[in-house]
Amino acid sequence: MAEYKLLFEHAHDPEFKTLKGYLAKGGYSALKKAIGIPAQSIIDEVKASGLRGRGGAGFPTWIKWNGLPKDKSHGKKHYIVCNADEGEPGTFKDKQLMEATPFLLVEGMTLAAMATGGDVGFIYIRGEFLDAAKALRAAIDEAYANGYLGQNILGSGKNFDLYIHLGAGSYECGEESALMSSIMGERGMPRLKFPHVPLPTISGLWDSPTLINNVETYCCAPFIVNKGGAWYATLGASTKNSRGTKIFSVSGHVNKPGNYEIEFGTTLAELLEMSGGMKGGSLKACVPGGSSVPIMNADQVNKAVIGYEEMWDAGSMVGSGGCMFLNDKTCIVQFIWRTALFYANESCGKCTPCREGTKWMLQILERIVEGNGQEGDVELLMDITKQIDGRSFCGLGDAAAWPVAGAIKVFPEEFDFYVKNGKSLVNSNLKLLPV
Ligand SMILES: Cc1cc2nc3c(=O)[nH]c(=O)nc-3n(C[C@H](O)[C@H](O)[C@H](O)COP(=O)(O)O)c2cc1C
Ligand code: SF4
Repeated sequence: MAEYKLLFEHAHDPEFKTLKGYLAKGGYSALKKAIGIPAQSIIDEVKASGLRGRGGAGFPTWIKWNGLPKDKSHGKKHYIVCNADEGEPGTFKDKQLMEATPFLLVEGMTLAAMATGGDVGFIYIRGEFLDAAKALRAAIDEAYANGYLGQNILGSGKNFDLYIHLGAGSYECGEESALMSSIMGERGMPRLKFPHVPLPTISGLWDSPTLINNVETYCCAPFIVNKGGAWYATLGASTKNSRGTKIFSVSGHVNKPGNYEIEFGTTLAELLEMSGGMKGGSLKACVPGGSSVPIMNADQVNKAVIGYEEMWDAGSMVGSGGCMFLNDKTCIVQFIWRTALFYANESCGKCTPCREGTKWMLQILERIVEGNGQEGDVELLMDITKQIDGRSFCGLGDAAAWPVAGAIKVFPEEFDFYVKNGKSLVNSNLKLLPV
């Protein structure tokens, strides 16, 4: 299959960033349609579309949208939050969506507000993404000036205010409960989750009903409302349960790195071909969904079909779509050391398995990549991953354990060789600077 540009159809047209250009390409026709139909019909279209969250977990979007109270006699505001933190290494699709198609996100969030009784929205943007914030600022200002945001939107009698909130560059603030803490002015640390406390759809920001979705998820909404959920569900129909398109941020040893939008059901090998094929050597490995998903070898890549269940069957995950292809000159042990360094730095320190476990994994990997590995180190690493996975307070712990465990499973000979011989199977050893 070739690229399928739905969200990205006009991404290279600078006019699409302006309200005039957006309207000229059919922009806001979904919102006009939505204000004339019952809120539940919008949710029903999202259900029919089969859309699943593009932030990483692939949770069915309609279930979240349907989860906010229908009756607002509780007297609280309903919040619509966009997770635009995009901290997962290898992923840079939301950045391009916000910079090139800001109105898709603004309209998508407004549709979510219409469907769920949303009063106030926040776009939580990763602090470094200043160009994205500027593009959204301009779009939001134009939308306010022309009646698409604010009071009595397009004469519907409905109100929706939208704010931008810049983060400060913490990966953990992409975790939804930490993100909410950060918006509320608290330290960006995760909170207790369901079933210990109610879901954010019932009690999120300021204990009020809150919807949280990823940038790409909201950007799908205008197409679903406009063309219908049934139409959207025809995309990806060859897969078990993945519908629509997905943007993959392709990086690593490829000739044409960048964002590629594909229909679910496309193969991973086709995605590699779209990205210009391998550079500097043959395909050795791939981390298909952002740094936290398990690494695949070339054989697994060549058999993999892109779909949530299909990628799981192939040994990894769709994740957030940060797809890194690695050539045969890559030392997998050194690659995993670099990944472990990221997670050890980003661990917020709240719970012991992650705080201590990420540091221990890093220490062991450091001595291995410097050529000082000790007998039993690989087994010890594997054991630590088991103590972190499923035992940490939030998903960062799991995200730190999976890459290490996955790489040891798929490339055991590289780890064993490094420890036994004090050198890499493919590269020279690393000389790490003291920190
Ligand atoms: C440590 C950590 C970091 C995360 N970072 C992001 C992020 O940058 N962007 C994002 O959309 N989701 C991120 N998530 C997932 C969110 O918690 C949440 O599931 C997502 O925003 C839901 O949106 P969706 O249903 O549209 O996918 C992260 C999760 C964890 C555990
Ligand atoms: S898993 Fe890591 S990031 Fe999450 S709460 Fe525990 S220490 Fe913090």
